[in-house]
Amino acid sequence: MCGIVGYLGDRPALPLLLEGLKRLEYRGYDSAGVCVRRPDGLSTCREVGKVAALEARVGKDLASFAGTEGIAHTRWATHGVPAERNAHPHRDDKSRISLVHNGIIENYQTIKTALESKGCKFESETDTEVLAMLVGELYEGDLEKAVQAALREITGAYAIAVMSVDEPGVMVVARKGSPLMVGIGLNEFVIASDPSAIVAHTQQAFALEDFTVCRLTRDGYRTSNLHNIPVTPKLMELEMKLEEIELGEFPHFMLKEIFEQPKALRNTLSGRVDMERGEIFLGGLQQIGRKLTHAKRIVFTGQGTAWHAALVAEYMMEELARIPCEVQYGSEFRYRNPIVEDHTVLVAISQSGETADTLAALEEAKQRGALTLGIVNVVGSSIARATDAGVYLRVGPEIGVASTKAFIGQVAVSAMLALYAGRRRHLSIEATGSLLTELDAIPDKIRQVTDQSEHIKSIVAKYVDLNNWLFLGRGYNYPVALEGALKIKEISYIHAEGMPAAEMKHGPIALIHDGMPCVFVAPMGSQHDKVIGNMQEVRARGGRVIVIASEGDTEIESHADEIIRVPACPEVFSPMVTTVALQLMAYHAAVLRGHDVDKPRNLAKSVTVE
Ligand code: G6P
Repeated sequence: MCGIVGYLGDRPALPLLLEGLKRLEYRGYDSAGVCVRRPDGLSTCREVGKVAALEARVGKDLASFAGTEGIAHTRWATHGVPAERNAHPHRDDKSRISLVHNGIIENYQTIKTALESKGCKFESETDTEVLAMLVGELYEGDLEKAVQAALREITGAYAIAVMSVDEPGVMVVARKGSPLMVGIGLNEFVIASDPSAIVAHTQQAFALEDFTVCRLTRDGYRTSNLHNIPVTPKLMELEMKLEEIELGEFPHFMLKEIFEQPKALRNTLSGRVDMERGEIFLGGLQQIGRKLTHAKRIVFTGQGTAWHAALVAEYMMEELARIPCEVQYGSEFRYRNPIVEDHTVLVAISQSGETADTLAALEEAKQRGALTLGIVNVVGSSIARATDAGVYLRVGPEIGVASTKAFIGQVAVSAMLALYAGRRRHLSIEATGSLLTELDAIPDKIRQVTDQSEHIKSIVAKYVDLNNWLFLGRGYNYPVALEGALKIKEISYIHAEGMPAAEMKHGPIALIHDGMPCVFVAPMGSQHDKVIGNMQEVRARGGRVIVIASEGDTEIESHADEIIRVPACPEVFSPMVTTVALQLMAYHAAVLRGHDVDKPRNLAKSVTVE
């Protein structure tokens, strides 16, 4: 999704802005732009493609970009194709205002028509240009007031940063729905869509709340609502460390994050499980523990990979806590007039905590009286703040667009949540304790899978030129099959379908042809024999069977063309182990096909529009 960076201080702004944009590249984008104040005006440059292309273009005219304040943007196209005219920053009719925006202005067409009737000439198809024009139209020498007035007319989501030619030393930022942080340095401010563009400069920051406008000058800042009533932001220390968002020895963030999973999962579990006493400590649930225990129904919601984690969570919660559950895409839940009865709990799962569809589902459930919980990675994110209670993943920043360690963290937190509720409902101390002991062993088991990266690569290499794959699993490993198919689609652009193994014969079996790769997620478990039956159906039709199988499972050998071994563990925790093999499969397939793993085409890391 779009990324915003801004700088106001004493240092040259351009290098800082470009460095910030590069840190935000992972969010996904298709064009970029920058605007720097020079003594006599504003210099703007916009370019389609990578930040490096923008950098090269600005490099031809560095003198024009020599100021110490500026705004910059990476755009992920919504209204209008990726083109220079649609890239940000946008300006008003008189070129006095420069504005960058993340989000969607829903009523932009009405405002555009009104502005056009007053003679405004638009050069782009974007909703953002409408906002820049509106600020220009309302500007009477006070940028803060003009922004407040413009935003009072807007519906939709926005994070914006604005400068005016007429007010040197002033930058105005605002937010509703889309994230924006203000980093406070010594006589300087760095603003950005997320902390990764701030931490290299300062640890002190605050996140803007919805409907908040902030006016920055070198002397300080002032925050107010859209009616100019002052509001006090909550200052925080950013915990993110620079090495967490740098590649180190790895060629790609995705690979780094796959290999980080044992450590990340240790962090997720650390201090939260007591195997001997069969207890789970989840500080974020203290106030609502009883309500969760007495829940009559739990609705898990999320999008993408988080939705797959929700499917695993549903199985876990029903099995371990015996609470009826269902899983809904946030985007579907919101608009389907959902039934929310008394004692319904909605659990929103999200890495970023900013996914618009998930957030909207959460708000809808809240309005209908549900208790809302978050399973979120990014501390202080919109979903984390909007829920009644929650549990953080603690897996560290995830930069790779294809989610890996966040999935493992989401499943682990879901397991703890299910055990937490289960223990309070019917699980004995012993049963809970022994499951917790198994859970505690998962990080080491994941390491045994990452150790096989080269073996997995050698298998993938044999099939990588084929364009259609199937991923199949049953029970807990059905969502894993979905996740495996999603991973391979996202970064290697191979068409893949994931499904319950039993479903294959109800239609998709028609696709199977000689040599088609069919990946079975088939660790030892209650439905193992049935999965073997499905493998035979594939082989009988010429398909090639690649199996994720448990160590020691000799029976599988005669049914498989390729085997990737994973350590045995209880079925309920197996997704955390088997998924890692599929992550590596997707990673190697993408690299072998020559794709940019960390910047897959068309994808955004966090989708902050509906
Ligand atoms: C986007 C990303 C996916 C992610 C999904 C949900 O589509 O490309 O990788 O799973 O959003 O994101 P969230 O931050 O809510 O987990």
